[in-house]
Amino acid sequence: MDEKMINALNSQVNAELYSSYLYLSMESYFESEDMGGFGNWMRVQAQEELAHAMKIYDFIIQRGAKVTLTRIDSPPTEWKSPVNVFEHVYSHEQKVTELINQLVNLAISLGDHATNNFLQWFVSEQVEEEESSGTVLKKVKMANESLNALLMLDNELSQRVYNPPTTKTNI
Ligand SMILES: [Fe+2]
Ligand SMILES: [Fe+2]
Repeated sequence: MDEKMINALNSQVNAELYSSYLYLSMESYFESEDMGGFGNWMRVQAQEELAHAMKIYDFIIQRGAKVTLTRIDSPPTEWKSPVNVFEHVYSHEQKVTELINQLVNLAISLGDHATNNFLQWFVSEQVEEEESSGTVLKKVKMANESLNALLMLDNELSQRVYNPPTTKTNI
């Protein structure tokens, strides 16, 4: 693989680990606000992000290159409200989509079809990520004025389950 591609994929491992860290911090925020269902949603989200990091990690090794881990930034620890948290999630996922698009652009410019093909999974995944976080954002906004509605939403989000990947290749 081209050195530029290896470096960019290594950066994306860091970005996915940061995403996992960010969602863990959001879980902690919700737990401290006694909203365990929202916390559960964040826990699942954090687990998914870790799986994203590992998927890229494995791909780098599979291509015969070396994974280089770097420092992960500290995520924020406080938010103003549940709406504020989900605005952050949604805008964060939009930023990640942009990062994935840039990786695809680089792979195409290098004529690296294997990496481009690998990254298409992430292109589809980001469509789902923006949709799911956007949907919760809309619901939290609707529930915002009513404690009852917020508790019902908390209960709904407590049902989210993480489905771990069964093999390395279909993460
Ligand atoms: Fe991700
Ligand atoms: Fe994500």
